[in-house]
Amino acid sequence: MKDTVYEPIKLDGPAGKSITRRSGREKVTGKATFSAEWPMDGLLYATPVVSQISRGRIIRIDSSLAEALPGVYKVLTPENLPSFTRLPASGEGNFSSIVASKVYPVAERDIYYAGQYIAAVIADSFETARDAALLVQVEYESMPSETNIRRAEGSEQPGSVSGAPPTVDEQNAEQVLSAAAVQVDQEYFTEGNYHNPLEPHATIAHWTIKGGKPYLLVYDSSQSLALARQTYAQLFNLDASQIRVVCQYMGGAFGSKGLMWPHSILAVLCSKAVNRPVKLVVSRNQLYGGTGYRTPLIQRVALGASQDGLIEAIIHAGSASTSEVDQYTESFTLVTRMMYQRKALKLEQFQCRLNTQVPTFMRAPAEAGGVFALETAIDELAVKLEVDPVALRIKNEPVKDLFSSKPFSSRHLTTALQEGAKAFGWHRRRKTPRELRDGSWLVGFGVSAATYPSLGFPTQVTLRIGSDGTAKILCCSQEMGTGTATVQAQLLADLLGIPQGRVQMKLGDTDLPAGGISGGSATTGSVGGAVRQAYDKLKERLFELLASDSKLRKVPIDQVQFIDGALVYKNEMARFEDILMDANRDFIDVDGSFSPSFQTSTSNHSFGSQFVEVGVDEDLGLIRVRRMLGCFACGTILNARTARSQFLGGMIMGVGQALQESIRWDHRLGRITNDDFAEYHVPVNADIPEIDVLWIDNPDFNATPIGAKGIGEIGITGVAAAIGNAVYNATGKRLRTLPMTPKEFLSS
Ligand code: MOS
Repeated sequence: MKDTVYEPIKLDGPAGKSITRRSGREKVTGKATFSAEWPMDGLLYATPVVSQISRGRIIRIDSSLAEALPGVYKVLTPENLPSFTRLPASGEGNFSSIVASKVYPVAERDIYYAGQYIAAVIADSFETARDAALLVQVEYESMPSETNIRRAEGSEQPGSVSGAPPTVDEQNAEQVLSAAAVQVDQEYFTEGNYHNPLEPHATIAHWTIKGGKPYLLVYDSSQSLALARQTYAQLFNLDASQIRVVCQYMGGAFGSKGLMWPHSILAVLCSKAVNRPVKLVVSRNQLYGGTGYRTPLIQRVALGASQDGLIEAIIHAGSASTSEVDQYTESFTLVTRMMYQRKALKLEQFQCRLNTQVPTFMRAPAEAGGVFALETAIDELAVKLEVDPVALRIKNEPVKDLFSSKPFSSRHLTTALQEGAKAFGWHRRRKTPRELRDGSWLVGFGVSAATYPSLGFPTQVTLRIGSDGTAKILCCSQEMGTGTATVQAQLLADLLGIPQGRVQMKLGDTDLPAGGISGGSATTGSVGGAVRQAYDKLKERLFELLASDSKLRKVPIDQVQFIDGALVYKNEMARFEDILMDANRDFIDVDGSFSPSFQTSTSNHSFGSQFVEVGVDEDLGLIRVRRMLGCFACGTILNARTARSQFLGGMIMGVGQALQESIRWDHRLGRITNDDFAEYHVPVNADIPEIDVLWIDNPDFNATPIGAKGIGEIGITGVAAAIGNAVYNATGKRLRTLPMTPKEFLSS
């Protein structure tokens, strides 16, 4: 095997530098136009009417009162809904569309979950639409529903779990477990979560005519603009050229805007029905049910080890939820395939059908829940073996990915654990619980490994190189708020050898070359991979444009280098802007693409370590995080400032998952009781202590052409386990349920 899949590149200019996000000023001065904010002539407002029951049938919808309200244009019901093509949902293996659920808005008479969109009011103001929605009278026939994963736990298995069968048993793991000298066998429960991006889901849709044909313009807060266009095309029988989808800014998404949820389809249907532009902003309440959530998980992790701490058997099994009619598979056992060495492995996933919106991916899908169970069990094993949990993890480092038998593209988990431990002052941890106090607080230290796969999605870019010395990256990727436009400009500036201020990225518009979904921490590597390929072609293009009397022409092209924005051979050099000027060209376009099919010879993952210090007030059941440190190995870091923000954001979200966030159900009614920020608790500043973020310099050219493995999601993984492990170290009490609320602490 070659050393690396991609030829390493040296990035020593603008890439990696700590540069402020380019959209920062627009955002803080209110000039950034978010998807709900585009001014449109004749704009109307739509509000969905949502189901108040969680399962049953609609008998009758009476919209006469609503229609009588001044300002109401139309009430859409199943009777007068414009036509569309029913596509299978993406979870059924339909990868050409991103329809999240086959329960289409306003189209159904059957109710599958509370919050289902069953009618819609279109009015001349948001307030009128909302008022009128309350006047729509719906008569239901109610049927029993199930929203409790503990009651629904069953024997159904998903078709596959990230490409493998739902049950995998290598070397009879149960037998190896029961023969092992030291055993841990526990159940872990994690509650469901909602993404709750600050910017609500929102769509403005406008049907017009262009060139004699219908033309659909959509402003959509979406992580998948190119796929959204493809999906609208299929839903409404249009050619892709008849659709433009735009999203210039996003106020958070975390996976909740990756697929197409009913409100987007509904906005387009509303616009079609009234032949006017229509805006639909999902309210905070209607987000709960209107969009997908992180499934609760019931997990069993069992570990068998020899007396000297070598893991012999790993078993990871359990249940996730999916909805009554749709399929979503949360691959919570994925991490366990490759994390540690072992002799025997058993993985088994079940699913239960709940009367909810279909679950979906939420920041570090699979890993956020899976790592909590696995890394808590590892800590429990360390306690039984009476060894340091950092040392136990290092001792069980695998030589390769034992599941796929492929070598790791790079790993560095040992370094991340060692460097993290050193920086955190891990040596000050007491081996025995209840030894460290600070006033009324018992203090403890905890550690966990962090990991997330390094993924990629097909991406195309065009580089527009100008005779004015500037360069543009054109790509329909999206600015999630993470700094995509900033870091890609840094990358290209570095490759071209010019100041980063001379490079811009245009994104967020399907009129640009198609990018992939901004999910799976894959944007930087995928877009960057396409940028690199286009850059690699640039030298040839410029060479062709050289003036016929240029001395460089006589030199074989492979001896000409591209350095600091110029073709160079010995003392001869020609800057790209001069080449273009001489050739009478304002600009040239060079295309590049990235395909993840190149990434298959190695097992590609990011790794890291999380260290946490907690204080626990045993009388009140309060758990306070006092210090946190994360140390990550994610390959090339293109911007120190935006990268730190990503890691910080992930770690803070991990605190939410660990201590606060939970969907609370009234299972009798099948309804969510905490559907707003007053009741669904997320961390605020007072919950968050000093956080240190470190990373290891390890460009990984097996994983992506620019060596970046992705950083958006790994930050959340391991945080909950590290907090729980720290609580054990402080108090001797093991919490196996998330979130670890005061009630949970006091009752366990
Ligand atoms: Mo992320 S949950 O893959 O958008």
